[in-house]
Amino acid sequence: MNKKVFIFDLDGVIVDTAKYHFLAWKKMADSLGIPFTHEDNELLKGVSRVHSLEIILDLGNVSLSQIEKEKCLLQKNKDYLAYIEKMNESEILPGVIRVLDFLKEQGQKIVLGSASKNAKPILEKAKVIHYFDALVDGNDVTNAKPDPEVFLQGALKVKMPNEACVVFEDSLAGIQAANAAHMVSIGIGSHHVLHEADFCFNDFTTISNSFLLDIINN
Ligand code: BG6
Ligand code: MG
Repeated sequence: MNKKVFIFDLDGVIVDTAKYHFLAWKKMADSLGIPFTHEDNELLKGVSRVHSLEIILDLGNVSLSQIEKEKCLLQKNKDYLAYIEKMNESEILPGVIRVLDFLKEQGQKIVLGSASKNAKPILEKAKVIHYFDALVDGNDVTNAKPDPEVFLQGALKVKMPNEACVVFEDSLAGIQAANAAHMVSIGIGSHHVLHEADFCFNDFTTISNSFLLDIINN
């Protein structure tokens, strides 16, 4: 059997956590008098926590001292974690478990490649952590997506070449990172946003087993 490595992003790919990131950032933006919409939130997908804050401050033309920024980051994460605390398997996005089960049955490696520093507790709460052969998250990397570091580390952890890796991503930065790593990039979400992906699907329910077998055997 041909062995590939399937690297999954977390937020917006495995679990529906983008809405909690939005609510926590929105609270912070409101407190600083910065208008912040769902459309603005798109800019933050796949982006690290620190960079997300910079983007929001730029939107409002607000500058803060280093200490104030650190206070904002701590509070945002506290608010985000309060939502995560209550999360369970119901937050897993449609079709994800079927695809994870199929890839396991086919003997493929499964790796996490996420910018989040909260990835491990989220995978535990969603009860999917046992699917993963390796985890690479925001605590492991120095260069955020679109830099390919997170995915390159994933390949290294399972001792497989980059060319054998296939990445599922919902952010443009993540697709660019996968392409830069010479991995197959599969967008999950809007074709309009993810036009640089090798393949794109609205969600996992539209990914067939025969498509996955083609990827495995090519
Ligand atoms: C990414 C999300 O997966 O992780 C971003 O798409 C988020 O929105 C980033 O900012 C960092 O997450 P966390 O949990 O470390 O704040
Ligand atoms: Mg994501």
